Amino acid sequence: KKILFATSEAVPFIKTGGLADVAGSLPKNFDKEKYDVRVMLPKYMCMKEEWKEKLVYKTHFYMDLNWRTEYVGVLELEYEGITFYFIDNEYYFNGFAPYGDTYTDIEKFAYFSKAVLSSLPVIDFRPDIIHCHDWQTGLIPVFLDNFRYGNEYYRGIKTVITIHNLKFQGTWDPKRVRDITGLPEYYFAPDKLEAYKDANYLKGGIVYADRITTVSNSYAQEIRTPFYGERLDGLMNARANCLSGIVNGIDYDEYNPATDPHIVKNYSVENFRKEKIKNKTALQEELGLAKDPKTMMIGIVSRLTDQKGFDLVAYIMDELCQDAVQIVALGTGEERYENMFRHFDWKYADKVSANIYYSEAMSHKVYAACDAFLMPSLFEPCGLSQLMSLRYGTVPIVRETGGLKDTVEPYNEFEKKGTGFSFANYNAHEMLGTIRYAERIYYDKKREWNKIVERGMNADFSWKTSAKQYEKLYDEM
Ligand code: ADP
Ligand code: GLC
Repeated sequence: KKILFATSEAVPFIKTGGLADVAGSLPKNFDKEKYDVRVMLPKYMCMKEEWKEKLVYKTHFYMDLNWRTEYVGVLELEYEGITFYFIDNEYYFNGFAPYGDTYTDIEKFAYFSKAVLSSLPVIDFRPDIIHCHDWQTGLIPVFLDNFRYGNEYYRGIKTVITIHNLKFQGTWDPKRVRDITGLPEYYFAPDKLEAYKDANYLKGGIVYADRITTVSNSYAQEIRTPFYGERLDGLMNARANCLSGIVNGIDYDEYNPATDPHIVKNYSVENFRKEKIKNKTALQEELGLAKDPKTMMIGIVSRLTDQKGFDLVAYIMDELCQDAVQIVALGTGEERYENMFRHFDWKYADKVSANIYYSEAMSHKVYAACDAFLMPSLFEPCGLSQLMSLRYGTVPIVRETGGLKDTVEPYNEFEKKGTGFSFANYNAHEMLGTIRYAERIYYDKKREWNKIVERGMNADFSWKTSAKQYEKLYDEM
């Protein structure tokens, strides 16, 4: 079977969040005998030079986008056994980041979606299934529906759309979207592209895709309710027969404490009791925190947005900082959360370290150095950071929502089970109570704590199981 991933980001080329991790690492995990999986993404100007230099020109052609005629270049790179195609157009992909404002993004990804389909006959790769990801590629199933009428080539190509985050839908005034896309009036109706008077790319994808997946089972259920449904819960229910959840994995080679080149001291489940701590003292030194191997260090690596529950953190930081803990935050995002962490870094200089930037290397150091990892999300389609923490023996403290609920088993002191700590309600003091419970186990029952660490490190969140589930889904189609 031939599969084409269409995505707006993929590691190692370009990343703003977990979507890049998934689109870059999942394709490597399919059975190569049976599935030829390739990936198509934009060639962004903001990609690192080292990658841009390696791309090989394949072909180019011109494509009509309503009344405009646009250049479509296709470049190619084989990386770790996977063919990546890059769609080149300097007008659309010249920004300093993959995404800009919605106004430009709406047109950019209409172009990209149509270019993906239009390039297939030109590069001579006719996939059986196009696997779309998030709103940026939501128009692909819609264009495909439209293409099929006039063109034999596209008949029989199936589509899957994976929802990594239902909150971002890609919406704009239908008049402009008609003008951008050239799609017939017919599509601009409430049972198709339109939602609440706007043209909605993600909705288009959900309506026209053959199958819909989300990145955890719980999230697949949650988005059928108004609280998590982002005003599309009705649609999610209408399409429930075609909707399923497949939990994300992570790249176990990339995230491996035994071989990670970014960390000071490598370790494994056999020797973490002695070795992991060296990463903590090194990080304390590097970040100017009090140097004490015993203090419980809590990590945060995240986009700083509402989704991730930082208003809960802001609410209890003063209280939490009365405890014997250190807090290391790495992230960028909304200014109020950036400033909140900066403030507490200033107020509790030897306890709190705010690192308001993006760094792959530092993220690995935080995962390796900390004792616990805090992720109290308001909603979480899957979440990868908690999986990385588990892999590094860093005990996740999470809210029981979406993928967090599905991947972190709450510690149960009576049954001696669990890989982390969790709380149910979106409530700051419920979170604080859970953190303090974790502190008690950490300080007073170290052997129990180490067992939790061990169970987490032994849990398997590589792609092995989930890739099989995608294979099954492709086969059913
Ligand atoms: P989301 O995709 O919603 O941002 P995930 O948990 O799925 O959340 O994935 C986040 C990814 O981005 C992880 O790989 C995490 O390590 C990484 N990440 C987030 N913020 C930073 C940062 N400031 N520096 C480095 N990596 C980061
Ligand atoms: C989104 C979600 C996150 C998920 C990631 C990859 O960014 O917010 O929960 O892990 O996509 O699927």
